[in-house]
Amino acid sequence: MEGLSKTARIQTLEWSAEDPNLVSRMMADLDTLEAADWVISGAILVAGTFPEAPFGSWTAEGLEATWRTNLGFPLLCAQALAPRLQPGSCLQILLDTAIHRPWLRRLPYSAAKAGLASLVPGLARQLAPDLRVVGHALGAILPAGDAEAAYLADRTLLQRTGDPADLCRAVRYAAESPFLTGEILTLDGGRRWAAP
Ligand SMILES: NC(=O)c1ccc[n+]([C@@H]2O[C@H](COP(=O)([O-])OP(=O)(O)OC[C@H]3O[C@@H](n4cnc5c(N)ncnc54)[C@H](OP(=O)(O)O)[C@@H]3O)[C@@H](O)[C@H]2O)c1
Repeated sequence: MEGLSKTARIQTLEWSAEDPNLVSRMMADLDTLEAADWVISGAILVAGTFPEAPFGSWTAEGLEATWRTNLGFPLLCAQALAPRLQPGSCLQILLDTAIHRPWLRRLPYSAAKAGLASLVPGLARQLAPDLRVVGHALGAILPAGDAEAAYLADRTLLQRTGDPADLCRAVRYAAESPFLTGEILTLDGGRRWAAP
């Protein structure tokens, strides 16, 4: 990324929402990083699944799995990461424009993202003034194929789907805006204002 510090180091930690020892695993991994003098200067929570679950097909197991990955897991990651973030850092959370207009074939997913939407101002209050929290309510950024892309583009004001670069700009803006916290930026080409 242009402008990224040449001295920044990147470390990948892999955690699974299904891990029964998730919280202790996260703590142990973050302790190991801290012991090796790593400083975490920002975090973006991206984990999610996008399961189709029309009304009438819901089961307790299906709902729990959807909410575990899309809601419980980001909450636990935020709880583990926040105390390790350098003061002044921004914690960023990926939401979905479904928080404005829930997907009918994906209501459990939409409900999970709505829960995360509440987490953004809640955590911003909890973690201020040391940390900032910002959410990104994304429209279609990576559609499955050309046909789907054309269909989704037609349902935005700007007549296009998003690009990963659109998200990168928003992430950078949030990271570099020290007066911004508790807000959700909607990045959906005007999808929520367009006709259904
Ligand atoms: N792409 C879009 O157009 C779009 C639109 C609206 C919102 N979003 C949101 O943006 C975020 C990223 O979406 P994406 O399109 O990049 O999705 P993706 O390619 O499917 O990536 C989802 C991420 O979630 C991780 N993940 C899935 N199940 C997990 C589990 N049980 N435990 C831990 N991690 C798990 C995946 O890890 P692995 O790689 O290890 O599987 C992957 O890193 C999601 O929160 C999504 O809701 C995306």
